[in-house]
This record gives sequence, structure tokens and C-alpha cells, in this order.
Amino acid sequence: MGHDKLRKFAENETFRCLLQPRSGEVLVPSQEPGLHLKDHPVKGNWCSRMFDAPRPVVLELGCGKGDYTIALALKHPEFNYIGVDIKGARLWKGAKYATENSLRNVAFLRTRIEFLEAFFAPGEISQIWLTFSDPQMKSENSRLTSPLFLERYRSVMARGGVVHLKTDSRFLHEYTRAVAEANHLDIIASSIDIYNEASREGFPDELLTVQTFYEKMFLQMGLPITYLSFVIDHEGRYIYPEFDPVFWREFEKERRG
Ligand SMILES: C[S@@+](CC[C@H](N)C(=O)[O-])C[C@H]1O[C@@H](n2cnc3c(N)ncnc32)[C@H](O)[C@@H]1O
Repeated sequence: MGHDKLRKFAENETFRCLLQPRSGEVLVPSQEPGLHLKDHPVKGNWCSRMFDAPRPVVLELGCGKGDYTIALALKHPEFNYIGVDIKGARLWKGAKYATENSLRNVAFLRTRIEFLEAFFAPGEISQIWLTFSDPQMKSENSRLTSPLFLERYRSVMARGGVVHLKTDSRFLHEYTRAVAEANHLDIIASSIDIYNEASREGFPDELLTVQTFYEKMFLQMGLPITYLSFVIDHEGRYIYPEFDPVFWREFEKERRG
């Protein structure tokens, strides 16, 4: 491992805002298929353990360096923000900024998004941001907006909870729209090119002004940036949508050359 990564990992241990549980703390060994999770002590207790005051909690999943987590937290002191990612060297940047600037409404969690229900109680989350998630074009159940993941989000979200998806991937945008439509979820805003959109109705203020590390790369490549937001209220199981992955995979391939 590189010297820089080791230095960041060592510094991560000193950040109060960064929680880095081992998988063994939430995973129960089992011969049965599927994930067997046990509750982490922070579940249901984020506001008292990690923040200075109770406020609605917003997650950024796959936050990387935590660009949205930090920018939103600075702008909205009335919310608590948690960036979740599995990569410690990326989280280091956001956690260092939050520490050095004494941000009291920011935390980071180093874990797999698959383990969400071990860390958050039902109703504990009010919004989720997915920023430039890997589209996982070949594996639907690894896709962060598949019915499998939406059910995980629903189980930790308050009623009326909103999911925001910002991505360069038309594949992921169209897939997620298809999931939302198939499940009659209320779509708040949808755009296939946010910087060239005549109507910005339903766009959060920060959508155009906060650009993540990956977004800047994709903009330099000339790719349009898409956005979709929807309410996650729904009873019963989420159904899988009719969606043509081959068509949209080809579309992405041609567009990226
Ligand atoms: C393409 S990067 C985007 C990072 C950041 N949101 C940005 O826009 O700059 C995707 C991030 O998601 C994280 N990630 C992907 N799958 C994950 C999972 N299942 N659990 C936790 N993190 C995950 C990766 O570690 C990576 O940092």
C-alpha cells in the first residue's frame, strides 16, 4: 500500500466524525444465503452519538470524498449529514475538512451500503443522495437503485423520504426512472441534461453549483449530467421494471466512444 494511503488511514483513526466499524460488528456468520445483519450501537442514536443536536438526517451514499455531504452541511445547518463509502482514503478528505472546520452536523461512515439496515433505525433518514454511483450495467442487484436497494432505503427512511440521483450515466438514469414508474413512486424532478434545461422546477439549489470529483471529470469529457428525484413511499415489495439493458449499454458505449 502507498505511503499516502497509509498516512490517510492513520489520520482517519483520529477523526471523531468518522465511524469505521469492522464488518464483524454487523455481520452474523451464517450458512444460509443472504446477508445476516446485527444492529450496531449507533443505530437509532446518530443524533446523540455523532451530532451536537437532533435534526433530520440526510445520507450521501457512495460519497467518495464527501463533496455533497460537506457542501450541503455548510448550507443547511438545520440538517445532519452522513457520507457513506467503503473507501477510507476517499472519506479522509471529507472527514478532514469537517474536523478542521469544526462542522457539527457532518459524519462519515465507512461501510458497505448493503449493510445500511444495521446502522440506521426505521424512519431515521429523511433524504438520500446518490452521486455518480457505478451504474453496474451487468448486475441489476448490485445497482444502487434496484428494487433490492430501494427496499433497504425504505426500511430506514421516514415517510415522504426523497431519493436524489445525480449521474452521468444515461443507463442508470433511465433504469431508475423505470423502477420509479413501475412502482408508482412520485417523481419530483427529472432531467437528462441539467446544465441545459429550460425549466429547473424541482431542482435543489445545490444541483448546479456543487460538483463532485467525478462530476468534474465527466463534465470535462463533455458528458451531460442527469438528475432524478422521487419519493420512496410505497407499501409491499418493489417490483423489477421492464428495461432494455442491452439498448442502454450500447447507447453508453457509443456516447463515450
Ligand atoms: C464513481 S465513485 C463516485 C464518488 C463521489 N460520489 C463522486 O461523485 O465523486 C463511486 C463511489 O461509490 C463507492 N461505492 C460503490 N459501491 C459501494 C458499496 N456497495 N458500498 C459502499 N461504497 C460503495 C465507491 O467506493 C466510490 O467511492
